[in-house]
Amino acid sequence: MIRAAITGVSSYVPEKVLTNFDLEKMVDTNDEWIVSRTGIRERHIAAENEASSDMAVKAIEKLLKETGTAATEIEAIIVATVTPDMMFPSTAALIQEKIGANRAWGYDLSGACSGFLFALKSGRSLIETGHKKVIVVGVDTMSAILDYTDRNTCILFGDGAGAVLLEPTEDENFGIIDEILRVDGTGAEALFQRAGGSRRPASHETVDAREHFIYQDGKTVFKRASTDMANVSLEVLEKNHVKGEDVGIFIPHQANKRIIDVAARKAGFREDQVLLNIDKYGNTTAATIPLGLDEVVKEGRIKAGDLVLFAAFGAGYTWGSTLLRYGPEKKA
Ligand code: COA
Repeated sequence: MIRAAITGVSSYVPEKVLTNFDLEKMVDTNDEWIVSRTGIRERHIAAENEASSDMAVKAIEKLLKETGTAATEIEAIIVATVTPDMMFPSTAALIQEKIGANRAWGYDLSGACSGFLFALKSGRSLIETGHKKVIVVGVDTMSAILDYTDRNTCILFGDGAGAVLLEPTEDENFGIIDEILRVDGTGAEALFQRAGGSRRPASHETVDAREHFIYQDGKTVFKRASTDMANVSLEVLEKNHVKGEDVGIFIPHQANKRIIDVAARKAGFREDQVLLNIDKYGNTTAATIPLGLDEVVKEGRIKAGDLVLFAAFGAGYTWGSTLLRYGPEKKA
């Protein structure tokens, strides 16, 4: 049986760092509030004129170099993002041109904070049906849609990109084993960007009303995120007869440390099994999971063949969990 294996991972965050102390000078907030309510200390912010495709290209170019892969070998590029460079064409098309992947096709996919898991499922399906090399990238330039006068949202998010290379394997010790993915549109207005789409096209009025920025009902999202992320993680483990203690690393979406603590506790993980890097990056939306995977791989916290569990929850609502065995790593 052909399985889709993650044979490499890389990431990129912009150079500019925005700390809680910087935010204290911009809105009525303070470091103590942000750290105790969210776990975030700083986040990276894209440079002027740095868009999602630029960050994705940086992560992908590193990935190609590290795995010794030529851009011309890539057959598909799937981009999870809610902050594409433009409404159309797709960010995948822009990335294809910039990296010179002249044999690739590709598309964008909008799954918000669960976007990377949705894109991974798409990539898995392409590999299982005959593609040999697929890039899945999670990227978001949240700073482009944040209202830096709204303390409820601007402290939460950061910018970044993470990419994985998927290749086929017949070795059962590696590859994506299973995933459970969900969507529930009753949450659509708990976390959204009111204007700029076909429902409310951009106009002077929508800009004046600040409707192109993120709106979030934090408490409502918090409740759903902490229960659903834990439940779906347990569900995928049980379905595949895997015990929590056998998971090498649990990489949950990084939206709020308190949500992660609740989810990890409910799912029964020890502290050392849980990836936590929200302090450095904030919520980078579709990028949090590949950023986390890159961190644990580069730090040697996991090795090829280890069980990895991803979990995410985000706008939509969307949520899900993916179980896999990391590797085999491809080295240049
Ligand atoms: N600094 C200081 N005070 C702030 C603040 C800030 N940055 N943001 C909000 N506050 C205030 C509120 O105005 C409120 O004041 P009030 O009691 O006088 O009205 C108080 O702090 C409590 O606000 P509340 O919204 O109840 O805080 P909270 O504990 O729910 O934390 C979030 C807010 C946003 C951190 C939290 O709800 C959350 O993380 N939600 C889910 C986020 C998420 O997962 N989003 C994306 C999914 S991908």
